[in-house]
Amino acid sequence: MLIYKIIKKEVKVFIKTNQFIIRPFKLSDAADLARNINNAKVARYTTSIPYPYKLQYAHDWLAKQIKTYEEKRPENIVWAIEIDREVVGAIGIHKIIYGHKAELGAWIAQKHWNKGIMTQVIKIMTDYAFKSFKLKRIYARIFTPNLGSKAVAEKNGFKLEGIMKKDAKKDGKYYDVYLLSKTK
Ligand SMILES: CC(C)(COP(=O)(O)OP(=O)(O)OC[C@H]1O[C@@H](n2cnc3c(N)ncnc32)[C@H](O)[C@@H]1OP(=O)(O)O)[C@@H](O)C(=O)NCCC(=O)NCCS
Repeated sequence: MLIYKIIKKEVKVFIKTNQFIIRPFKLSDAADLARNINNAKVARYTTSIPYPYKLQYAHDWLAKQIKTYEEKRPENIVWAIEIDREVVGAIGIHKIIYGHKAELGAWIAQKHWNKGIMTQVIKIMTDYAFKSFKLKRIYARIFTPNLGSKAVAEKNGFKLEGIMKKDAKKDGKYYDVYLLSKTK
């Protein structure tokens, strides 16, 4: 019972900096989410973001995420990145094996690229996930053309472990994928 309460609190994280807020998603975030994620350049090197991205997809996806905040030990948790009262991105800890490892995933609206925001978000949330979920390893799988994403991971101490040949398939095209990790 006690553990359940702690994990609920951990999952319902709310972090505020002077530039952005990280918080649980709400159903009312659908319009912001759909508007900012519906960009071919956001979707192109991800396995899970479709393009075009319809508003109904945002409604369905949000309902699913919000359910996970009530779970004792969700396998995947995604939080909203909010700037100036608008949801402009997401940070996710996926495939969580509590006490062991998890995968990192993130995106932010193109209008906020290269301002150093995701570098800070990943710093905060990897530290948080290592502590809260007692992880030993957080890894990221990054399509090889996605050099910005690789730079963000490396700036946060992630080390390149290898290249997985043709590991990803997106829109009928196969991509080599960098595997990076940070361990404790
Ligand atoms: C990847 C992504 C999350 C980065 O977010 P961001 O807030 O722009 O990241 P930051 O500003 O903190 O850092 C970006 C870094 O990448 C570097 N970078 C950007 N494009 C680059 C390129 N083509 N080659 C090399 N480095 C590049 C920037 O110079 C910057 O590093 P610096 O601060 O040392 O100069 C964002 O571009 C995004 O959402 N992309 C679409 C979704 C996506 O691909 N997600 C990752 C899936 S694994």
